[in-house]
Amino acid sequence: MVKIKNSIEIDKMRKAGKLAAQLLDHLEPYVSEGTSTIYLNDLAAVYTRMNGALSAPLNYRGFPKSICTSINNVVCHGIPSEKDVLKNGDIVNIDVTVILDGFHGDSSRTYCVGEVDSKISDFVERTEKAMYKGIETVKSGNYLYEVGKAIEKYIKPFGYSIVQDYTGHGIGEKFHEDPQVFHHFTKANKIRLRAGMTFTVEPMINMGKSFNVRTSREDGWTVTTADGSLSAQFEHTILVTENGVEILTQSASKQESIDYSRRNKIIQ
Ligand code: MF3
Ligand code: CO
Ligand code: CO
Repeated sequence: MVKIKNSIEIDKMRKAGKLAAQLLDHLEPYVSEGTSTIYLNDLAAVYTRMNGALSAPLNYRGFPKSICTSINNVVCHGIPSEKDVLKNGDIVNIDVTVILDGFHGDSSRTYCVGEVDSKISDFVERTEKAMYKGIETVKSGNYLYEVGKAIEKYIKPFGYSIVQDYTGHGIGEKFHEDPQVFHHFTKANKIRLRAGMTFTVEPMINMGKSFNVRTSREDGWTVTTADGSLSAQFEHTILVTENGVEILTQSASKQESIDYSRRNKIIQ
């Protein structure tokens, strides 16, 4: 069952989403050669606490840190560590989730560290674009499967692959709730969207031909591509509205270019 949030809950979701965006903005200047992922984790933990929120990943099903940091062939759920130091040419996804006044805001971005091969930076940009293609389809009355359909249509021609084992998710007082949001087309997502639904769109795209992934047997968390290829991801928490969609985790610098009231379209 997909929950419809009321106006009070929506207001809290907006605040949590805004804080998640601000947290990523706060970390961004530190994403550079020589920074360890534990340093990013600790910065995130302090910022979250200072803003009266909690880090949702910490102790979530036993996850040991406050954010996920996934480098290169790591698809998701990378555990921050002093041993993982960013180097020139890496790509790294930072996934943050805050709990503010009982509600969750979940967002991630993939960054290029220093100078990255143009084939790789194109791949990262296209992954972000794919997320927006999915988000653009969202509107009350539309089917949820349009999200995956649009992502698939855009990403397939590049020869990349869409991870199927991890999906977007409903979000609110719970970190993960109904519906599951697939990033490829499937009838399983033949669900009518209604104003007041909140969920994430968070495609994980592998640069190679295989969408298969493996979970580390050592730490039980780190997910890598089966073929060793790079993987990128972007994530927003969104709200379904009568006219389209509101991106709750949009960074303030991008916010002004989107007019939600007039059209169901996103201009970047
Ligand atoms: N933030 C991830 C998501 O987008 C979930 C991370 S679960 C954790 O759904 F336990 F690894 F933190
Ligand atoms: Co996330
Ligand atoms: Co998520």
